[in-house]
Amino acid sequence: MRRLLFAANWKMHLAPADARAYLQNFLPAYAARTDRDVWFFPPAISLEAVSHAIARRPDLRSGVQDVYWEPKGAFTGAVSAPLAVQTGAGAALIGHSERRHVFGETDGDTQKKVAAVAAAGLVPVLCVGELLAERDAGKTLAVVSRQLEGALTDLPAAALATVVVAYEPVWAIGTGRNATPADAAAVHRHIRQWLRARGQAVPRVLYGGSVNLKNIADLLAEDELDGVLVGGASLDPAGWAQLVQTTAR
Ligand code: PGA
Repeated sequence: MRRLLFAANWKMHLAPADARAYLQNFLPAYAARTDRDVWFFPPAISLEAVSHAIARRPDLRSGVQDVYWEPKGAFTGAVSAPLAVQTGAGAALIGHSERRHVFGETDGDTQKKVAAVAAAGLVPVLCVGELLAERDAGKTLAVVSRQLEGALTDLPAAALATVVVAYEPVWAIGTGRNATPADAAAVHRHIRQWLRARGQAVPRVLYGGSVNLKNIADLLAEDELDGVLVGGASLDPAGWAQLVQTTAR
């Protein structure tokens, strides 16, 4: 059985002082469990505070929400993978739907970012998922394949083997609507098959989109789901501790 992964995407919330206060609440409320990992993706400005606060907890990890693919240089406002490493980050979200749909990130961008992240030794967490119109048009699997192809083609096998994929249907993010566990599992199966066809060992595949305390048990009852990427429901430390502590497999 693959270890469950609970990933908290704080998006543009929790400045360093708030992040420290959050972890002061979270850490005593969640004792490490051998069957699961918990990762935090704070805004870049709070990464060092988070890494420092969790330094004594190997079951916890921090990660950056996005990177630019160049390692350094005159790129005002951007954060590179090597800079994130220096803040203690161990992972990076790539291609989150807000990056794709608010900031206009392309599949080509995700390819350069995944390569940069892997080269810096961070675990790439590649986010994929379809728009509602694409789902309604029966294009979900085609869109997900295109996003996988776009981001992962030409990635060296050793780097590909480290990738975590997060399936987040765009219409389910922050909307209170989520895919049924069976719908999510079907896409997860497709992602695994896509990777297997390229000779890859089965990676962890997460589900995201309005995951909360009420629906997580049904979602994780599906074996295809190796964990979750959670936005809104990860912002309250007590609620998040309860979610990661009590969800059974
Ligand atoms: P949500 O966000 O849980 O608030 O829907 C998930 C995500 O965007 O990663």
